[in-house]
Amino acid sequence: MSVLDEDIEEIRIPAEEIRAKIAELAAQIDLDYADREPLLVGVLKGAAMFMSDLARALQRPSTMEFMAVSSYGSSTTSSGVVRILKDLDRDISGQHVIVVEDIIDSGLTLSWLLRNLRARQPASVEVVALLRKTEAVKVEVPVRYVGFDIPNEFVVGYGLDYAERYRGLPYIGRLRPAVYGG
Ligand code: PRP
Repeated sequence: MSVLDEDIEEIRIPAEEIRAKIAELAAQIDLDYADREPLLVGVLKGAAMFMSDLARALQRPSTMEFMAVSSYGSSTTSSGVVRILKDLDRDISGQHVIVVEDIIDSGLTLSWLLRNLRARQPASVEVVALLRKTEAVKVEVPVRYVGFDIPNEFVVGYGLDYAERYRGLPYIGRLRPAVYGG
């Protein structure tokens, strides 16, 4: 039990459910990529936990790269204008890329990222997202693998932060409003 647990009002997705879902997603990816080696592109920082658990759950070879992007605009709504904070370390042309995201909210970050990555001429690009807020999606993005569709509420844990905290919680939960002055 961490002191951060006390700030959580309700656990929305327990650690065990996350583990089981990742095993399912990994099994599907292993099957779909039986004849290709995927290059996992993790989008920092939120996807750090998901990336490391997904990569360990895959039974077939894969490689890893990371990108960090930041959307302009307020901290709670993304504008769709994205800045690269950390780019890939290598050329991805001819590679079978799987973008690994923790959450799709408006879809704006991913939509921009997919355009950016496709311009680098990979052989294919797919997306795996642990969470998707279906009500919040403003732009349709083709997401091949989705862990959980969740309602439009503010959640933290398992990579997701509030003011950079709570990323290390092993589950996904709703913050007590008092924590953010609500
Ligand atoms: C989060 C998340 C996605 C993006 C989704 O990242 O990891 O990249 O927002 O939002 P969208 O669908 O509305 O564009 P954030 O910018 O909070 O950075 P972080 O991963 O470092 O927390």
